[in-house]
Amino acid sequence: MSEQLPIAVLVSGTGTNLQALLDTVHGREAEVVAVASSVAGAPALERADARGVPTAVFARAQYPDRGARDEALADWLQERGARLVVLAGYMELLGEPFLECFPGAVINVHPSLLPAFPGVGAIEQALAYGVKVFGVTVHFVDAGVDSGPVILQRTIELPDAREPEEVLAALRPLEHALLPQAVALFARGALRADPENPRRQIVDRPAAQTGEG
Ligand code: GRF
Repeated sequence: MSEQLPIAVLVSGTGTNLQALLDTVHGREAEVVAVASSVAGAPALERADARGVPTAVFARAQYPDRGARDEALADWLQERGARLVVLAGYMELLGEPFLECFPGAVINVHPSLLPAFPGVGAIEQALAYGVKVFGVTVHFVDAGVDSGPVILQRTIELPDAREPEEVLAALRPLEHALLPQAVALFARGALRADPENPRRQIVDRPAAQTGEG
């Protein structure tokens, strides 16, 4: 068995994406070594507890400013040995000093086909626009809002969708497939930036998956 990549997962809410990671890559390509929440009592924390994963809460109000919160958070994640930070429903922005602690190693899952509908309320934004195709994006995190290089995307046609709950229910399985897949690719060292366009991520798939060899 090759080495497992130590990963941290940041959450704020229900934690279904965390659960998907715990049920798939945890103990295989990766080991979830820390779960940090921006919200005390978030249900996601119980999911981590249930698997014996250390948890901590870093609520914005506990710190004088966001920078101090980011520093405390980064220190804890580094103490736990995290080499990849996964934002899974984490509803806070992270500043550049935090990102510099984990260069090229912070990823996020977002419920839209970026660059359409970044930020909060992505599904509501898409419904208001009247789109017929919805999607999910897993991307590297930069200092902007949902603006980092795309790793994986998947779409679903919902031409008659009206309610956010309906769209969310349809997107959930896509998120729960794509996020663990991206973590596994990262853990295998299978992601690299295209030298001609560093925003473009080249995915090195095993020969069997490409149909070659
Ligand atoms: C997901 O829809 C994710 O795309 C968004 O927040 C939601 C988190 O859900 N950023 P959960 O906490 O993983 O269930």
